Amino acid sequence: MKKIGVLTSGGDAPGMNAAIRAVVRKAIYHEIDVYGIMNGYQGLINGNIEKMEIGSVGDIIHRGGTVLRSARCDEFKTDEGQEKGIAQLKKFGIEGLIVIGGDGSFHGAQSLTDKGYPCIGIPGTIDNDIAGTDFTIGFDTALNTIIEAIDKIRDTATSHERTYVIEVMGRNAGDLALWAGLADGAESILIPEKSDSFEEVVNRLKRGHERGKKHSIIVLAEGVGSGFSFGERIEKATNLETRVTVLGHIQRGGSPTAQDRVLASRLGAQAVDILLAGKVGRMVGIENNKLVDHDLYDVMSHEHHINSDMYKLSKELSI
Ligand code: F6P
Repeated sequence: MKKIGVLTSGGDAPGMNAAIRAVVRKAIYHEIDVYGIMNGYQGLINGNIEKMEIGSVGDIIHRGGTVLRSARCDEFKTDEGQEKGIAQLKKFGIEGLIVIGGDGSFHGAQSLTDKGYPCIGIPGTIDNDIAGTDFTIGFDTALNTIIEAIDKIRDTATSHERTYVIEVMGRNAGDLALWAGLADGAESILIPEKSDSFEEVVNRLKRGHERGKKHSIIVLAEGVGSGFSFGERIEKATNLETRVTVLGHIQRGGSPTAQDRVLASRLGAQAVDILLAGKVGRMVGIENNKLVDHDLYDVMSHEHHINSDMYKLSKELSI
């Protein structure tokens, strides 16, 4: 292989730039040309492709977002879209592709691999919802952003003696809510995988209030439902003054933490190494601090599981 490509796809995640940098630099280290595909699969279809040099990725390791831009692309879900993408790759002489993104992005990478075009996936999403890796790029940074926000909300919650419902991202996955809730001592954590009933949440709040607790924090993953309607129901059921904060896309931005930069650098370099070693249709990941790679089909057909011990612990500590 003499020429490879790299793209970022789906929701951006802090650390994607560090991963792009690692891919580009590791490829150049191996004397391979690297092409950056702009705007995800949409840019691939459109032929929005640029050669990258060592300097193209200078000064980006600390920046959030993705210098390659990202997109969600429905056209690439079709055979036609994928064929157009392969035609562009061939036109540029690109022989293998590294895709940084989440589950949806991996479907695209798998489809290309099935059509005979070698792809490797790197898990990049704040949700930490990918099987076959303990952590995805961006999760740690988003988690720290959430914690910083909740700490601030806690100050005002204490001053006004209010209950706060904080809605965090995570369409199908509760890791952000679970880790943030545990790290912030939330009274209740509601996640798609496992949640207390509404009655249990209300009883917990009432018990705390009777014991003299003046404020409470509830962390709710967006996949469970709207924070606003949940907050309204809580206020009605408890008679405690309740406010709601939806953290939204602030969770996706910001300078990546050291943890995410190191993870992204390791995974980016490993993706190049396994692609050059002839592996195809694989996702690189990290398990017990060791680099691993798994078949993309396996990754997509398995669910990422939350750590049930952590969930149990969060309840034990917020009695
Ligand atoms: O997949 C990452 C994620 O941030 C999810 O947590 C969230 O549900 C979704 O993306 C939001 O996507 P968009 O920015 O396209 O609205």
